[in-house]
Amino acid sequence: MTDHLTVVDHPLVQHKLTLMRDKGTSTAGFRRLLREITQLLAYEITREMELTTTNIETPMEEMDAPILAGKKLALVSILRAGNGMLDGVLELIPSARVGFVGLYRDEETLEPVQYYFKAPEALEDRLVIAVDPMLATGNSSAAAIDLLKEAGANNIRFLCLLASPEGVARMKEAHPDVPIVTASLDRQLNEKGYILPGLGDAGDRMFGTK
Ligand code: URA
Repeated sequence: MTDHLTVVDHPLVQHKLTLMRDKGTSTAGFRRLLREITQLLAYEITREMELTTTNIETPMEEMDAPILAGKKLALVSILRAGNGMLDGVLELIPSARVGFVGLYRDEETLEPVQYYFKAPEALEDRLVIAVDPMLATGNSSAAAIDLLKEAGANNIRFLCLLASPEGVARMKEAHPDVPIVTASLDRQLNEKGYILPGLGDAGDRMFGTK
């Protein structure tokens, strides 16, 4: 993957995203749509996974058939909204290993602080896909990628539903080696760090909290 930012403009992705943005969409609908879009985005982000071959016998004859190479992919959810994207990727890649990064924002320093980190072993040998639906300021995403790199990851991609220009710029500055795949590059952030036009608070909408 050579581009730093890929916006997936597939009509199904764009249609489902419109339904997700609509404030009238129910919690159940939002969650289902997020799972479906994530599957489509995951298809794009895994497009260049390495293949090798394995020798099999079809009912007709023997063949060397393509199969994914290397260790199982590591999927890392950035808590808590990232959890809404796990199922979509796991339906496509059921054998993926799963990790979690939890960060909160210190209200005084405004810096992200880690409260949870659990990653699959041998991150250095895996393709790592970090998931968080909203790339807003980019501060927590960049911090999460820092932690993954400290844990050994060196082949990381970032999968989100919406990105802001500010978040993309922050990630490009901090992690130019981490390609981003998203369904939309939205217009801007508001003064509270929410994406416009956006879809509101993704965690609240998928978990029914306020
Ligand atoms: N997180 C959200 O859930 N929504 C935004 O718009 C920005 C960050």
